[in-house]
Amino acid sequence: MERTLIIIKPDAVQRGLTGEIIKRFEARGLKIIGMKLLHISRELAEKHYDVHRERPFFAGLVEYIISAPVVVMALEGSDAIAAARATIGATKPSEAAAGSIRGDFGLEIGRNLAHGSDSPENGELEVANFFSESELLSGWRRDVDRWVFE
Ligand code: RTP
Ligand code: MG
Repeated sequence: MERTLIIIKPDAVQRGLTGEIIKRFEARGLKIIGMKLLHISRELAEKHYDVHRERPFFAGLVEYIISAPVVVMALEGSDAIAAARATIGATKPSEAAAGSIRGDFGLEIGRNLAHGSDSPENGELEVANFFSESELLSGWRRDVDRWVFE
């Protein structure tokens, strides 16, 4: 099982798309093991986006992600990283496939609605950055699992 950190970004929360976005991951079969509403601190935003620190868009990216509350989710599943990123769609919403979150609801790269971790290693690290152990219900029994996981 892989873990991925999903951030429902400020634009999506402000636009009332939180439920619509959660619904897509839930329907896909990914299991929610943590979820909360929070206003990300500058310190946490800079840590989360540290790999982009030298990029010209870094300052704007940090301002965007701390501009208003977000909903963060820790999801678990087989191939959770690839599945969640396909559900989110390409970074640039204008190039994202119709049917994906960005392809259905976005236009610009700086307002691209949702984040998903890009590797299993980063999934573990990012989940740990946003959730304490006591906030994660990793072992909860979901009765439908035998119809989702072979
Ligand atoms: P994310 O991390 O948010 O899931 O997005 P991603 O993997 O598809 O894209 P990534 O390369 O990790 O970029 C992180 C976020 O930075 C913003 N960005 N802006 N102006 C630009 O050229 C540019 N490039 C990236 C986007 O908000 C992107 O989601
Ligand atoms: Mg990324």
